[in-house]
Amino acid sequence: MPPSTPLFLSCEATFFNSLLMVDIERLGEHVGETVTVRGWVEATRGHGKVAFLVVRDGTGTLQTVLVKSQIEETIWDLHGSLSQESLVAVTGEVKEDARAPGGYELGVTALSLLSGADEYPIQAKEHGVDFLLDHRHLWLRSSLQRASLKVRAEVSQAIHDFFYGRGFTRIDTPILTGSIGEHAGTLFETGYFGETAYLAQTGQLYVEAACPAFQKVYCFGPTFRAEKSKTRRHLTEFWMIEPEVAFADSDDNMRLQEEFVSYLVERALENCADEFEVLERDTTALERIKTPFPRISYTEAVEQLNQKGSKTEWGQDLGAPDEAALMEDQDRPLFVYNYPKGAKAFYMKENPDDPRTVLCNDLLAPEGYGEIIGGSQREDDHDRLLARIREEGLPEEAYKWYLDLRRYGTFPHSGFGLGLERTVGWITGRHHIREMIPFPRLMNRLYP
Ligand code: 4AD
Ligand code: MG
Repeated sequence: MPPSTPLFLSCEATFFNSLLMVDIERLGEHVGETVTVRGWVEATRGHGKVAFLVVRDGTGTLQTVLVKSQIEETIWDLHGSLSQESLVAVTGEVKEDARAPGGYELGVTALSLLSGADEYPIQAKEHGVDFLLDHRHLWLRSSLQRASLKVRAEVSQAIHDFFYGRGFTRIDTPILTGSIGEHAGTLFETGYFGETAYLAQTGQLYVEAACPAFQKVYCFGPTFRAEKSKTRRHLTEFWMIEPEVAFADSDDNMRLQEEFVSYLVERALENCADEFEVLERDTTALERIKTPFPRISYTEAVEQLNQKGSKTEWGQDLGAPDEAALMEDQDRPLFVYNYPKGAKAFYMKENPDDPRTVLCNDLLAPEGYGEIIGGSQREDDHDRLLARIREEGLPEEAYKWYLDLRRYGTFPHSGFGLGLERTVGWITGRHHIREMIPFPRLMNRLYP
């Protein structure tokens, strides 16, 4: 480890108190003043008489300039010895400079090392994905990762704002559950004082229970699926947003979805321009995301697919290649509605006009991102729901409470689940979902 100056010795604290500490994002308010920025070293460059030091403080990145003839030799030497990701304090005058990244530069007069760094494993070169994921705790500091996670944070905030603005009540649903939410095949089990508990695959059954209490509700939390697929769109732990609305039918449900998704895109466009630039995202594709979104029935989708040469038969669920084929000519998200009963979960309401199907929809994102939402009107008839639970071989005992909702003032209701990481993957235009969550959990990855 290189030597470093202790950070919070009392004399040190007094020293820092006499300086004007400024976050990089606020430098514009201090042009012409001498300020100090604390940050991590991203790069150092020297050209004999002039040297550059690029620091990142989490609010931005700043290029600082050292002129050898104008600073003490010890500062010049310290600059020469700095390793990547050392923590430094740089003092100097703020100058406006349109060519500098961020629009400002600092003319360095003082520099101190607050904390040194060992040789940093992530260099400005191509690294393999496994290597980067092994170093995810450090990889987070890289510009593309920061930009993606900033967009994620903006979208998360927009989600809460959207529902808050429409009078929804947020309901936090349990993570440890006794009933299977979706499919028996992808459950994480854990012991629970002599019983078996499952990590929640969905909060849906619980938001349904909250509807008669609050009418319009949503949950937003981590959900878990023991997916044995290593694809660009599967995580074993992902975040899902699940609104549920009393008195809403399947049509109302799709309208809410398109308004919701277009709002999220609009918010990202409004507040993430810098991030989109770093990500080199073609934002014209996002500007096209306006309601209404086109809709086709599952049956029409299968016909279209067969015309395109797909062998998918009526009754089968649509796979990723089918979704891609359906989206070939679409530049907005596409609803596919009313799938066959056998392809979907037990709680979906039978379609009265065609009982082979259920009142449900998937929403497919353009540009190859596939399904971002699954939603449905719920089966509100007690006996039909019980029959479906039995047909699926689910343990009846575990659904007693859920069936109660159909015994005490049953009501038409609908809801959906939007996968946060898939949605942010599409909005950022990044290829793989694993970069859309700070610490991805994948089939073969539990660390860091
Ligand atoms: O279609 P799904 O399985 O629907 C449900 O869980 C319903 N209970 C939702 C509801 O009606 N309240 O999942 C919903 C969404 C998918 O469209 C997808 O975006 C995301 O959750 N998702 C995943 N995201 C990442 N990794 C996985 N393994 C995912 N599985 C589903
Ligand atoms: Mg689905």
